[in-house]
Amino acid sequence: MNCHSWKSSYTTTVLLVGSCCLGVLAVAAQQQQQSRSNSKLAGAFEFVLDFVRRKHSSHIDDDSATNGMQVLGAGFARSGTKSTEEALKILGHKVYDTRSMLEHSEHIPRWLRAAEDYKQHHNLTELESLLKDIEAEGYTATLDFPVNLFALPLAELRPNAKVLFTIRDNEEKWFESWSDITHLMGHLICRPWKWLIGNFDFPEQLLTILEDFPRTHSHYPEHIYRPLPWFEILHHPAIVDDPGQKERWIALHRDFQKRCQETLPPDRLLLFNVKQGWAPLLQFLGVDNAELRQHDFPNVNDRSSLQTVRWVMDVVAAGLPVWIALQSYLAYRIARCGVAMITSAATGFEKTKRA
Ligand SMILES: *[C@@H]1O[C@H](CO)[C@@H](O)[C@H](O)[C@H]1NC(C)=O
Repeated sequence: MNCHSWKSSYTTTVLLVGSCCLGVLAVAAQQQQQSRSNSKLAGAFEFVLDFVRRKHSSHIDDDSATNGMQVLGAGFARSGTKSTEEALKILGHKVYDTRSMLEHSEHIPRWLRAAEDYKQHHNLTELESLLKDIEAEGYTATLDFPVNLFALPLAELRPNAKVLFTIRDNEEKWFESWSDITHLMGHLICRPWKWLIGNFDFPEQLLTILEDFPRTHSHYPEHIYRPLPWFEILHHPAIVDDPGQKERWIALHRDFQKRCQETLPPDRLLLFNVKQGWAPLLQFLGVDNAELRQHDFPNVNDRSSLQTVRWVMDVVAAGLPVWIALQSYLAYRIARCGVAMITSAATGFEKTKRA
C-alpha cells in the first residue's frame, strides 16, 4: 500500500464520518422542526458530554459568595423545579441538585451515610459536615429529587433557611409527568450507558433508606428490550410501572407534604405552584423587587430538550461499534502508512548504499 491510496481512503473515511454527522443533524433538525432545534441539539450534546464527564456546566461558578443555605427545595422532580431553579438563579442563588451530586460524585456515598445516620439514630453529624462542604462551594439552595428528601433534617440544621415545596395542580398530574420522564430517561440504567456511567441508582437507594420505599428492579427481558447486544431500551421501568407503584408514589408525595406542614411553621414553608408566578415566591423569600413582580415567571419545560437528549443518546448508543470501528480503522491506516513510509525510506537507503 502506498500513501496515495491511504490518502484516498482517509478522504473516504472523513467523508463517511462527515456524512454520518450531517445525517444526524439533518434528521434532528427535521424531527424538531422548531426554530430553536439547533441550540437544543447543541444543548443535548452538551448534556450527554456533561453527563459522561459528570460536569454541571449551567451554574455560575462564584465560590466567593458563602451566605450558607437559604432555600431548601422539598418538591419532587417534575413539580416545576427547573423553572424554579431558573427563578432562584435570577435571584442570585447557586442551586445544588441531582446534577450537582453527579458533579461531586464523592458526595454520593456521604449522602447515603447521612441518610442512614439520620434515619436510624437521628444523628445529623454526617449531614452537617456535608452541608458545610456544600456551603463552602457557594451553594445557597437545594432543589429536586432526591435532595428534596433531606428538606426536614436540613431545615433542622439551618433554622433560618426556608423550605420551598414546589407542587403541581394535583398529585395525579405530577405522577403522570414523573412517570413520563422516567420512561424517557430510564435508559441511563441500560446498556451501554450503565457501562459508561456506572450505577445510577443512588436516588432509589436514598428513597429506600429515608422513606422505606420498596426497591424495584428492572430486568431483561421483562422490562428491557435488547435490539442489539450493546444497546437496550427500558420500555417498562419497574419503579413507576410495577403494580402499586403509582399509589406508592402518590402516597409518598402526600405524606411528605403533610410532614413538612406539620413540622415547619407557616412562615418557613411555601407550597408553590409555578403557575402562581413571582409574587408569592418573592414575598416568601423577603425579596422586594417590584420590577421582577411584573415579569413572567421562568417557564422551563425540559421535556422536549430531554427528548432530544434521549434521541442523541440512542443514536450514539446504537451506532457505538460503528463509531469505534471508524476510529480504529483510521488509526490502523495511519499506522500502516507510517510503516510503509519507514520501509520505503529504508529500502531507498539500502539501494543508495549498494550503488
Ligand atoms: C453520629 O455519627 C458520627 C459518624 O457519622 C459519629 O462519629 C458520632 O459519634 C455519632 N453521634 C452519636 C451521638 O451517636
